[in-house]
Order: sequence, then structure tokens, then C-alpha cells
Amino acid sequence: MNRSSVVFGLLAAPLLGGVGGGAAFATYSIDRTRSASDPVQVEPDYARVQVILDRGCTGCHAGADAAAGLRLDSWDNIIAGSRHGEAIIPFDSDNSLAIELLTKLNGGPHPAELGANPIVADDVLALRMWIDAGARNADGVAPYADATQLLYVANQNSAMVSIIDMEADVVVRTVDLQELGFPPDAKPHHVAVEPDGSHWYVSLIAANRVLKFNRANELVGQVEFERPGMLALHPTEDFLYVGRSMAAVNPPQRIGIISRSDMEIDEIDVFFPRPHSMALHPNGEYLYTSSLAVNQIAAIELASDELELSTLDGPPHVFVQFAISPDGNTMVAAAQLTAKLLVFDITNPMSPELEDIIDVNAAPWHPTYSPDGHFVYFGNLGDNTITVVDMAVRRPAGLITGNGVAEPHGSALSPDGSRLYVSNRNVRGAYTPRYDLGDNANSGTVIVINTETHAIEKVIEVEGYAAGVGTRTRN
Ligand code: HEC
Repeated sequence: MNRSSVVFGLLAAPLLGGVGGGAAFATYSIDRTRSASDPVQVEPDYARVQVILDRGCTGCHAGADAAAGLRLDSWDNIIAGSRHGEAIIPFDSDNSLAIELLTKLNGGPHPAELGANPIVADDVLALRMWIDAGARNADGVAPYADATQLLYVANQNSAMVSIIDMEADVVVRTVDLQELGFPPDAKPHHVAVEPDGSHWYVSLIAANRVLKFNRANELVGQVEFERPGMLALHPTEDFLYVGRSMAAVNPPQRIGIISRSDMEIDEIDVFFPRPHSMALHPNGEYLYTSSLAVNQIAAIELASDELELSTLDGPPHVFVQFAISPDGNTMVAAAQLTAKLLVFDITNPMSPELEDIIDVNAAPWHPTYSPDGHFVYFGNLGDNTITVVDMAVRRPAGLITGNGVAEPHGSALSPDGSRLYVSNRNVRGAYTPRYDLGDNANSGTVIVINTETHAIEKVIEVEGYAAGVGTRTRN
């Protein structure tokens, strides 16, 4: 590997607007209408909803052998969902499966396709109103308001973020960026979450923004950045690092450093085209990024502003994303074009040494390390498989495939490492959703994998093109 060293300085003034010349930045307003915090009393209340469900649904949806494992006989059971996923999404009746089945099911509406009486329009409206007011219980409390293990999923083709509770494995909230004034093609791509869960950030490729939301999913800040892609949070300091989207053909050769507290941004030169991947050393002292156009990796020492470039010989790899072992000694790079996982020794953090090249499947995407550093997981976007690499022997130890794996993109682990979550774009439609709702043939999925058995435990349907994911844990 060849190396070259340069010292860069942070650009003095925050670069707001006009960065890189070519980008036009629209102005978007902040809308705070979707607050989930304060309990409110609304009509219809839960008691009226339960009367409706008891009349039309619990004949099949109650007890141990409830249809689809969905029991609609109590508030707790309604919000727990079916054996597949949620039946309702609080505050979002439009994307709640129960409402979609009652209104859009091809051959329905449910349960008429089974010979039962369809539910009357007034009752559908009452259910909708209850869901849109937060699906609150008899005490006026919205479900999952205190959930702590959340997975945020950017739905790139739907201008939406789906939020999954990793204990219940159901979608518990959605954030519709169009309701906040962003365009339908805003293209949310990747999410980063504060270690304490207090805020989360999402990059919007086509809207040239990084947004900041609070725990109640209210938009509280935003900053302009041309074609943002991957995000990486500093573990202890105020910084959020942002690279450029793959969709950007010739973006500025700079990455962004956002101060999370005030959402001001600086940009730093990386001296190569198309900076994409983003990873922070667990000690918080080094940042790594790489080029989509050339085989170059930049190691940046954050305290000294020193940058070192490593260049690899050979055919173009196209590094999609890095992951760094919890002990900080090893970094892996998923290489799209060569279908390899490259393993670097980073015990000398500024000079990654290539140690191993592991053959994997077509187009490996976002890798994730297990908390103990033993395994690395990633989806292979090109052939609908998920590879498990045993890092002790540096060999694939499993190849996971099955219904729901459809252009796998992002990956994250539950905090204890027992379950792996992989988001799937499903743009080509390899996965057929369980119900034909007319407009859902390309719904993305998040599959839940048991890391002990490698079995797919659940296929959670989300919105179009499930891309990057974020959790409070490392990913
Ligand atoms: C006649 C029995 C019957 C009635 C009545 C009925 N359902 Fe169902 N429901 C089913 C069956 C069976 C399935 C599973 C269908 C399948 O697997 O194709 C299902 C599936 C569902 C699902 C999807 C669960 C999942 O995740 O796959 C929802 C949501 C649902 N029903 C809601 C309702 C609601 C709301 C009512 C009342 C308005 C209702 N159902 C009335 C039999 C019924």
C-alpha cells in the first residue's frame, strides 16, 4: 500500500448553503404537529374501539389459536401485533395493516374475503381516528412511548422513517417527511442515534439535508449538505460525521462534520473523489472514510487534523462501508465490485494494514460486528443472501437466505447481540408482501435473525426501499 500524509485545517466559517456550487437548496419548514408526548382525551376512546373489535373481529382474533396469532381482545394484545408484525402503527392509520386490510385488500375488504361480514364505514373511521390520535389505552397513554431499544429504518423511496421496537419486533412509529414539508423523493438514506436515545439524525440524499429529531420524533434541527449518505456519531463528543451518497456522481471531495448541539457544519477535504463509507474508531480518536471511485482509504486523527491516505493496488473494490471491531484492532471493508470483505489491522490506527481478503457473495453492503467481536454480519445486495464471517478464522461461517431477504442493505444487532436486523430494499420485488394491498408490491422489509441458529424469526414489512438503519448500539 502507498501512503501519503497531509494536514488539513477545518474550514473557518460554517459552510451554509452553496457548498460545492452546483447544489440548489430548498427551504423546508419545521412542523411540530406529530407530538406523541402528552396524553390527550380524544373521541373515540379505546373502550369504543374494543366494542367495534368485539363485534367484528374477535370471533377469529382471540384466544390461543387466534388467526395469524393476532388477538384483538385487549389493548395489550392489539398493540403486540400478530406473529408477523404490528396490526396498527400509533399515529399512522394510513400505514396500519389493520386499516389497509379493511380498506384496500385485493379481494377484500377483510374479513369479507373469508365470508364474514365486512366492517361498516363508520367503524373503520372510528378505528382510524383512534389510531391517528395515538392508539391510546383507557388511561390516555400511547403505546411504546417509553421504548428504549429502537431501530430506525430509512425508507428511501417513501420519504419515511419506520421505527421498530426491538423487544416487540413491531413498527411502533413512522415519521413521514412529506408531512414535514420535504418532497416525496427526499430519499432518506441512513440514520444515526444518540447513545442516550435522546435524538436521532437522518440523511436526505435528494433534499441535501441532515435532519435532527428528538425522542418524540419532532424535527428540531437541520443542516444543508450536498448529497449526504452515511452517518457516524462520535461516541463521546458533539460531532456527527457525514459522507456523500452513492447517488452523487461528482460531489465535493469533502466530508461533513456536524456539531450535533447546534447543527452547524464544517467540511474537510479528503483529497479523493466520492467519499462514502464512515466509521469511527471506538476510542473516538480516529475517523475512517473511503472513496467509491478509487481504492483509497483516509484515516483522520481528529485531535491533530492529520489525514493519511492508503492506496490499494488491484481492481476497483468500491468500498461501501466499514465496521470496526469493539477492541479497535481490526477494520473490515465491504467491497461491492469485487465481492470481498477486506480485513485491515488498525492497531496502528493511521496506517491500516491489509491482512486478509475474504471471498463473499455479490455486492456485500453494510457490515456489523457482534458485540464480542467474534462475528461480522452483512447482507449481499447482489444475490439476496446474508453472510456471517467468523473473525477468529476469517472465513464465512454461515450464509442466510430465505423469504424477506430482498436486496439486503443495512444491518444492526440487538444490544445483547442475540438478534440481527437486516433491512431490505425489495425494489426488484423478490419478496412478495403477505397481503395484496394494490400499492405494496415493493414494500421493503426488516428481517429478524436469531444469531445463534441463523434462522429468520420474523419478516417485518416496512415502506419502500428500506436502506440504512440506526440504533443506540454500535452499528
Ligand atoms: C372470519 C374470521 C376473521 C374475522 C372476522 C377477522 N379476521 Fe382478521 N384475519 C383472519 C385470518 C384467517 C387472517 C390471516 C389471513 C391470512 O393468513 O391470509 C387474518 C389476518 C388479519 C390481519 C393481519 C395479521 C398479519 O400480520 O398477518 C389483521 C391486521 C386482521 N386480520 C385484522 C382484523 C380486524 C381488524 C378484524 C375486524 C374488523 C378482523 N381481522 C376480522 C380472520 C378473520
